[in-house]
Amino acid sequence: MASLLKKLGSFAAGATLLFAASAALAKPLTVGFAQTGAESAWRTANTNSMKSEAEKRGINLKFADGQGKQENQIRAVRTFVTQGVDAIVLAPIVETGWEPVLREAKRAKIPVVIMDRKVQTSDESLYACFIGSDFYKEGAMAAEWIAKNAGSRSKIVELQGTPGSAAANERRKAFADELAKNPALKIIDSQSGDFRRSGGKEVMEAFLKKHGKDIEIVYAHNDDMALGAIQAIEEAGLKPGKDILIVSIDAIKEGVQAVVDGKINAVVECNPLFGPKIYDTIAKIKAGEPVERSSYNVDIVIDSTNAAALIGQRQY
Ligand code: AHR
Repeated sequence: MASLLKKLGSFAAGATLLFAASAALAKPLTVGFAQTGAESAWRTANTNSMKSEAEKRGINLKFADGQGKQENQIRAVRTFVTQGVDAIVLAPIVETGWEPVLREAKRAKIPVVIMDRKVQTSDESLYACFIGSDFYKEGAMAAEWIAKNAGSRSKIVELQGTPGSAAANERRKAFADELAKNPALKIIDSQSGDFRRSGGKEVMEAFLKKHGKDIEIVYAHNDDMALGAIQAIEEAGLKPGKDILIVSIDAIKEGVQAVVDGKINAVVECNPLFGPKIYDTIAKIKAGEPVERSSYNVDIVIDSTNAAALIGQRQY
């Protein structure tokens, strides 16, 4: 009898352990996501992709909108660490200044996935991996398109993205590097429109006032600023896409539609739909599987040769 009771006791203990283990397995993953803000249509599509994919997979997503400020994002990451989330996704507004907070996450053994824009750190072990786009390649593709298609036009104004962001830094550097191979092309002015439509319009108005008809080409670091610049160009009585060539980056639906309408001449794709890839990667990290250190989207150029064929299938 005593041995039967002992057996029953150890069976019950085993069952409890098994139950606790399977309950832990079934526990939904909690992910903290520190987003830059909502500066552009690209950003909204990125946020939506992260939210809808989390919902599909039953992931508990804690979303923090940085409202365009690094200090808000740092505060959000710190809060996620205190809450003990399972993983953190950070879309860093600027490249530098993340080491202390990333160190806090590492100390708490919470993996951080850097999404979209890169960070500069002296210690790469502070984050698990990077998933994003190759901004340098995008800037180079924009410059190559201009070099091939500008004809006799040569004077360029540049609408830069958020100062200090990897997206602006790399798109700017790549474009300048490509132009160095084509000395006929010249940047006559360059300013930040902060990746915003309103910023693109304001800066373009100032450029038109300052340079008037000298402006032959606009290079915008994103579609939203290009769309803002189009408004300024039209209000100045000029025809975007004809009087002034326009090339931008993102290929949001509205940008591709502007190519179809002949108002933007070319857009370089930058796909924001990272949700599935991010959560697949987090699942691998949590399962102790190896993940790629850096992984990039493959981007294409869309111009008058393929815009009409592609517009119907744009997902963002
Ligand atoms: O970091 C990606 C850039 O950020 C996109 O090109 C831009 O639209 C966004 O705001």
